[in-house]
Formats: sequence, structure tokens, C-alpha cells
Amino acid sequence: MNIRRSFLVGCGAYLPQRIVDNDELAELVDTSNDWIVKRTGIMQRHIAAEEELTSDLAINAAQKALAKASLSVDEIDLIVVATTTPDDTFPSTATKVQAALGVNKGAAFDIQAVCAGFVYALTVADNFIKTGQSNNALVIGAETFTRILDWSDRSTCVLFGDGAGAVVLSGGEITEKTKNYGILSTHLHSDGRQRDILYVDGGPSSTGTVGNVRMSGKEVYKHAVAKLGEVIEEALNYNKLSASDIDWLVPHQANRRIIDSMARKMHLPIEKVICCIEKHANTSAASVPLALSVGMDDGRISNGDLVLFEAIGGGLAWGAGLVRIGEPV
Ligand code: ACO
Repeated sequence: MNIRRSFLVGCGAYLPQRIVDNDELAELVDTSNDWIVKRTGIMQRHIAAEEELTSDLAINAAQKALAKASLSVDEIDLIVVATTTPDDTFPSTATKVQAALGVNKGAAFDIQAVCAGFVYALTVADNFIKTGQSNNALVIGAETFTRILDWSDRSTCVLFGDGAGAVVLSGGEITEKTKNYGILSTHLHSDGRQRDILYVDGGPSSTGTVGNVRMSGKEVYKHAVAKLGEVIEEALNYNKLSASDIDWLVPHQANRRIIDSMARKMHLPIEKVICCIEKHANTSAASVPLALSVGMDDGRISNGDLVLFEAIGGGLAWGAGLVRIGEPV
């Protein structure tokens, strides 16, 4: 039996037009540009227009990723959307994306792992492709996260933004030529005992309301640094690679200090880290594919580069993935 693998053949992103900088937020809550930049690295965030839904962001990002992959919608047979802020409780945002794109075969569904959502969605799609159940998958991280913020809570409302990123995975056989390309491995973890350090105080079953984000920032910070460090090591060890083999670290964009700390732990020069938190803030499930798209669009990340993804979020849920971009030419 031939062994299959997923190749990452396209990436795209979309950001809502409206930009809100820290000074504008300081008119709303007792904060300052200085405090936000110093503690997080965030300078601004994009915020979706009232009529703009998570699916709209996802569709835009998906269209760009498909164009980059030079694949038609007819070839897509799986859509996985990672989101914490779906348009509706049901049906899934993914089915809305499926209809809007004109994809009419295969499966479409959402995944919920908050800020780790993209790495989870990538893993699920990769497994569908590896088993031969799907051939070409759209994996999307999309959020209108600012809709679930408490705009009177300065400790959380300054941290997040809206956006979407998408990648196209294409299945193929592992051959001598392709063996170093594609998704080499992904590694997922969760620890439900840490649920209460980052959660939303509402939901269809618990309160019948959407709820707002609640967070113990210091606790989350501590877990993020420890768990991301562990999962990075796990991914490298599994592939018998060392940090010096990595061309790019594309981390979850939650806090500049967490990102810097990961680079230090890996002894990776900061020039090898894609960081766009200053412009996007934390876009939860969208943050990793958005950052990947930034790095690919500005020409830093190119075909054949070895990229390490990592992310952590509510649950706690976290993970990492090692991917060699593109396909051999
Ligand atoms: N502006 C001004 N002051 C503020 C703000 C604000 N926006 N928010 C909190 N403060 C105040 C607090 O009230 C506190 O004041 P006090 O000392 O008078 O009580 C002081 O600043 C320090 O607050 P801390 O919460 O201790 O600040 P800390 O240094 O921990 O930084 C932060 C807070 C940035 C949230 C940090 O803990 C962090 O980044 N944690 C990681 C959380 C994270 O990234 N969450 C995103 C979602 S999860 C994920 O994606 C990984």
C-alpha cells in the first residue's frame, strides 16, 4: 500500500477593513498604548464590520488560498473551519463556506479548540487525507473574536482582533522526491483541568447567552510558555530534527513576550520567527494561518521551507506541527 501525505499548496488571509489602534481603545477603557505595547506587543487590531460575519472572513481567506494553490472548487472535498465565534450555534460555519464557494462534495464541519483551533483543524484534515478519505482540503481559521469580548474589561479587551487565514492541503504519495515535503507531523494536547483560567461565561446549554471571555492572564501566560516549549520539543524529537533545522517558526500570536520566550528556548534567531501581533493582535484560531500568509506574501517563507507551527488556547488545548511548504519542483 502506498503511504499518503498532505502537502500544503496554498495559503491566504483576510482582515476586516476597520483598524482600531491602542489610543482609540484608551478612550473606551482605562488603558494606554504604552501599557499594551509593553505587556503584549500589540499596537492595533482589525475589527469586523457589524454586518461582517466569521463566514465572510473565512470565505475571503479561502478564495485567496485556493487561487494560490491553483485548485478549482470542484477539487475540494473537505472543509474544516476552526472557530470559536461561529456565525450561528448551528449549522456549522464550514457548511456556509462550502455553499458560498460552490463546493458540492465531501464534508464540511467546524472544530472548536479556541486559539489552538488551526493546529487541531490541520491535524484532522491531515488525517482525512492520509487515510484516503479526502484528496484536497481547505483548512480555515476564522474569528470575529471581538464579538465575545467584554469591552469594559481592560484585562482582556485589548488583546484580541478579528481575521481569517486558510491553507489548502493536497494529498499525494510519499516518494523519494516528496518524502521531505508536506505535513511531517502534528502533536495535540489538552488539559481540561485548566478550563477555568480561560473561558467564556456563557453558551447555548449553560446560560442561553453567548457570554464574554474571562481570563487569568498570569496563569495562562505561565502555562503557555511551559506547554508550548514542551510541544515544540516533542515535534522536533519525533522528526529527529533540531531547532537549527527550522527555517521559520510561525507561532500563535497571543503575546510578543510568549513568542520571544519560545524563540529564546529554541535558541532560534528572532529573524526566523514570523511575528505580526503588533498589527493583528490575537485572532485566536486565525492567528497561525494569518501569520503564515504574512510570511509567504512578503516572500520570507517560500517553497521548500521547513515551518514549525505552535498554538495554545482555552481548554487548555495546545499543539504543534512541522510542515515543509509546497511540493518538490
Ligand atoms: N491597561 C492598563 N492596565 C492594565 C490592563 C490594561 N489593558 N490590564 C490589566 N492592567 C493592570 C491590572 O489591573 C494590574 O493592575 P494592579 O497591579 O493595580 O492590580 C496590572 O495591570 C498588572 O496586571 P497583570 O494581569 O498582572 O498583568 P500581566 O503582566 O500579567 O499582563 C497580560 C497581563 C498581558 C494579559 C499577560 O498576563 C498575558 O499576556 N497573559 C497571557 C494571556 C494571553 O495571551 N491570553 C490570550 C488568550 S490565550 C492565548 O492565546 C494563549
